Amino acid sequence: IIMTNELKGKVNYSVNGNIAILEVDNPPVNPLSSGVRAGLAEFIEKANSDDSIKGIILTGAGRSFIAGADISEFGQSSDGPDLHSALKDIEYSKKPVLAAINGTALGGGLETALVCNYRMGTNKAVVGLPEVNLGLLPGAGGTQRLPRLVGPSQALKMMLSGAPLSAKKALDQGILDAISENSLIEDAVAFLQEKIDLKEHPKVRDKNEKVLEARGSENVLAEAKALAAKIRKGQFAPGQIIACVEAAINEDDFDVGLKKESEYFLECLMNPQREAMIHIFFGERAATKISDIPKDTPLMEINAAGIVGSGTMGGGIAMNLANAGIPVLVLDQDEKNLERGMGVIEKNYQMMVDRGRMTQDQKEIVMGLITPTLSYDDLADVDIVVEAVYENLELKQEIFKTLDEVTSDNAILASNTSGLDIDALASVTKRPGKVVGTHFFSPANVMRLLEVVRGKDSSDETMATVMSLGKKIGKAAVVSLNAPGFIGNRMLAGYTYQANMLLLEGALPNQIDNALESFGMSMGPFRMMDLVGLDLGWRARKLANLETPLVNKISAELCERDRFGQKNSKGFYNYSEGSRAPNPAPENEEIYKEVSEKNNIQRREISDQEIIDRCILGLVNEGARILEEGVAQRSGDMDIVYINGYGFPIWRGGPMFYANQLGLKEVIKKMDVFSELDNEFWKPAPLLQKLADQSGNFGEAPPAEERAELLSFKQANMGGV
Ligand code: 3HC
Repeated sequence: IIMTNELKGKVNYSVNGNIAILEVDNPPVNPLSSGVRAGLAEFIEKANSDDSIKGIILTGAGRSFIAGADISEFGQSSDGPDLHSALKDIEYSKKPVLAAINGTALGGGLETALVCNYRMGTNKAVVGLPEVNLGLLPGAGGTQRLPRLVGPSQALKMMLSGAPLSAKKALDQGILDAISENSLIEDAVAFLQEKIDLKEHPKVRDKNEKVLEARGSENVLAEAKALAAKIRKGQFAPGQIIACVEAAINEDDFDVGLKKESEYFLECLMNPQREAMIHIFFGERAATKISDIPKDTPLMEINAAGIVGSGTMGGGIAMNLANAGIPVLVLDQDEKNLERGMGVIEKNYQMMVDRGRMTQDQKEIVMGLITPTLSYDDLADVDIVVEAVYENLELKQEIFKTLDEVTSDNAILASNTSGLDIDALASVTKRPGKVVGTHFFSPANVMRLLEVVRGKDSSDETMATVMSLGKKIGKAAVVSLNAPGFIGNRMLAGYTYQANMLLLEGALPNQIDNALESFGMSMGPFRMMDLVGLDLGWRARKLANLETPLVNKISAELCERDRFGQKNSKGFYNYSEGSRAPNPAPENEEIYKEVSEKNNIQRREISDQEIIDRCILGLVNEGARILEEGVAQRSGDMDIVYINGYGFPIWRGGPMFYANQLGLKEVIKKMDVFSELDNEFWKPAPLLQKLADQSGNFGEAPPAEERAELLSFKQANMGGV
């Protein structure tokens, strides 16, 4: 029997002897949409009122058990019974219910399993409460039930990190009662048959030992608060999660805890962070889609890869591929470099083993997938090569010519350039359709962002394959057209420009960094510049005999005085030997004053709000141009770039979303005030002006018109920078 009506998703009902099987069917991942909730309520009732049924199995169709509440329903009105009442029906079922977890059981999915009497998973089962990633807390009893199963401390770790557990770990923790090695439903039926005659079936809500143990101990909550401060800075939901667990520990009545959870959940739901983080959840998935490339574009198989260059970037990229099970050849023409590079990879993995993030066996497996080579001929059979040598067009062109000769005609040739013209690389090959940019961020084994740069000839198959590879290796992949700075660095230019101007106008690095860090940026611009090194641009300008632009005058002056940043322990800040902690450098203040004076800039007191507005709106205005020119496909893509590559706080939803929430009219108003300082810079991008005039937002921007023309590396408008 299949339930269908207007509601979304359904539950299939079938009978196996004296067992009713409820199968959640809401592809692709079975969220608890309206039709699923209605189906659960209806069929629990049906099974309970059928005398021939003695037990109930709840499972999922396809690859997922239940992926949680339907995220698209949050903030919308939705039909069907609410989740609590559907879960109550399961928890108070007269007949025992077993959750047969065939795949991912996340959020409301795990919470559904927790109201069942028994839980069995396959080897592939994955359980977790990732609501915190959406600015939410587990609102269907998870904050009350999970602590009862695994203890408050472990439950808090799971809920604050949002990280899922494998079946094996879930069994060890007592979340699963058993793992099925063969047919899940057969094993589940057999398991349930053994329990059917018991008078009582266990309910998680009744297991109080672990929460009682924690009562009166301050440690558990204090540790959780410290963890939240460390990994979830600025976020609202973690504090709410901790408050829920506090109730689980201290309230005698389970239902009082449950009621508190509902209240705290509602507060999360109403908090703007929730909308921002859900925007990012869907935005990340939207970013993987390329609007003018058919969905069913065939993908090339990537069974083996090559990397050219064994430096930091090459090594990090090799680790990404190996972690996903793809064998990688790392090529370097210098034997010493190669040895050093392999050593760094080994050391990075060893660090993960030492920190318990990987077992020794896993390390050996991934190391076994990475093979060093000195010879291009070894790359004959790979499906993709990522070139990751230093930024020099002639050198890269030489490499692409060689790769074009040695690799099979089918192989994709990718460049990890952060700014060079992809078409200029494609042009030296006989396969321009197979050439693409893959701009990883440093350190590549850690940072999630991947800008996939589409050249004018990059084929649909190449683009679709690289986007899918990006997903496979766990990256947040975003497409950028081949234009100067791509998306991220082009936007960054406006941001650092403003930071440097603020310094010239009177703010100190410490104030600017603190203001932006309190806004939520993971690292302020001057700490960042110290980390990267102040001397790169300064040396390049010296070599080319170029004048120092006003905006760089202070950093150039610091370089003249041997202050290059962290690399020599002094830059905008001072560093003590072996430490990356920035200490104020009062000796610089005289320099700032002198440079400002020399350039006829009257230093003044600048408010933190002005700092935030100028830096962040600098990003936004440039983002509007990037969108208008079609360099980014959609505004959400830029949010994904900034959150995953540049330390923008996820809970603000990215710079473009932030501007939408501020209101584009308000953005223009603020820019108008700043235009008195710099008319050219603060000219609103035409798209921004247009959308503001219509009271619209960036999500409503029309597709870029001049797309085809822009598929060339012409000088984009760099926003007066
Ligand atoms: N609700 C609505 N849609 C969902 C969804 C959900 N919970 N989970 C996934 N989807 C959608 C995705 O948006 C995507 O749609 P698209 O094809 O149109 O882009 C599609 O399902 C497939 O998702 P993925 O591309 O992410 O598929 P993967 O196979 O890579 O990953 C997954 C599967 C691990 C289940 C991943 O989708 C995921 O992490 N989902 C979210 C899990 C989650 O956060 N659950 C908690 C929800 S909040 C909650 O439960 C509140 C409760 O406590 C009251």
